Formats: sequence, C-alpha cells, structure tokens
Amino acid sequence: MVASRFDSGRRRICGGLAASVALAASLPRLLGATTHRSFPSRTLVHPGPGAQPFRATELQPGRNYVFAYPYVSTPCFLLDLGEPLTEPVTLETRDGQRYRWQGGAGPNRSIVAFSAICPHRMTHPAPSVSFISYRPSPSGPPGEGIIKCCSENSRFDPRRGARVLSGPAPEPLAAIALAYDPAGDRLTATGAYGGLLFERFLAQFEGRLALDYGPERFARLVAGDCPVYALEDYSRVNMQC
Ligand code: FES
Repeated sequence: MVASRFDSGRRRICGGLAASVALAASLPRLLGATTHRSFPSRTLVHPGPGAQPFRATELQPGRNYVFAYPYVSTPCFLLDLGEPLTEPVTLETRDGQRYRWQGGAGPNRSIVAFSAICPHRMTHPAPSVSFISYRPSPSGPPGEGIIKCCSENSRFDPRRGARVLSGPAPEPLAAIALAYDPAGDRLTATGAYGGLLFERFLAQFEGRLALDYGPERFARLVAGDCPVYALEDYSRVNMQC
C-alpha cells in the first residue's frame, strides 16, 4: 500500500515569490549536457513516519511509481518492466555525447528509473497533474510498453534506456542509477546520467515549484531517504492521450 503524497503532509504550499526569486539567484549555474553525475545516495522508502524501506519485490510490474531525486522537486519514474533488462544500450544526448544505459536493477534486473522530465519542453508530473507516464501494453506481450508525454506526443522506450521512439524530444529521458541490495531487497538511487536537465528545470519552473514545495526547499537536494509514491498519489490527475 502506497500512502498518498498529500496524506503524508509533505506538500507545502508557501507564498512569497520574492523569496523564491532570491533563492533562484543561488541556484547552481545552468549546466550543459552532462552525461554522468554522482549525487548523494538515497534509499527508496515508503512515505510517512518511520520511512520503511520500499522493497524491490513490492513493485507491481507495469505500475507507475514516482520519487523525487536528486532534488526535492525533480520527479523520477520507477518502473518494474516485468522482464530482465540485461543488455546495455548506447545512447546519445542532444549535444552528441554518448553514454551507455546499464539496464535494469533489482532481483530480476527488471527495475528501471528515469527522470520524469520530458527533454522537449520539460513536461513532468506535478502535484496537480501529470501529462507524462508509462503506458504498459494493455494486452500485448511484455516489451511493448512506452513512456508517453502528452504535451507533444514524444514516446520513449524504457526497455532501451528511454530512447526516443517518436516525437520532438531531442534526447532520451535521463537515467537514474539504481543500486540493489539483495540482503535487504532495497533500492538506492546513486546518481544520474544522460542529458541532465535538473538545474534548467529548477530555473524554468521556479515560481510554481516554490509554491508547491516551499521557496526555501524546492531547489535543495533530497536529504535523507526518497519516498516512493504511486503516480496517482503523486499527481492528482494523470492525463491519458
Ligand atoms: S514536452 Fe514532452 S513532447 Fe513536448
């Protein structure tokens, strides 16, 4: 059972755009495409008091889960795709930098995580609505599900490192590196690679992010653990297209 993001009381609506603008001045400089960055390792946990570890085997294949990483306000998809993903895939950022997606994690290597920020115009799951989500194939065999952005219909293949299948997105979704601890059945986010848009995202959406997460908080790196939410608990409306 995944607790509601709103029930947990984590959503902070704060006024004071002036404060957020002041904070934005201290944001890291916008980065160009950087293919690999380490961020503090964060264990994936259940929301709420006690932060019980979210066990990898609790994930329901095909269901959309979201966690914020590496920043408090930058959402990522966590998906169990239901089949081993053991083949690395060579991909390229919009700037032509090559990188290798490392495949799935977890006991069956079927679990993947990607930034949920669309590389086209940075559509993303927000507390109010999500226009981007994973769509499992309703009746077909495994291997047909896609991540789809409804804004301008970009489609990504999560089994191949979220490479672009169609649409205007200029590069794959950035990958989140996951480490798996078989002893505890735990997953830990350790960094990100691919076309990283986090700082650009924080700058572009700072006004709304400050309202949603608090002006002092939205641009901070996640401290402690990373709560995992079902998408329907992270975003009140999940748009289909
Ligand atoms: S923002 Fe996703 S396709 Fe345009």
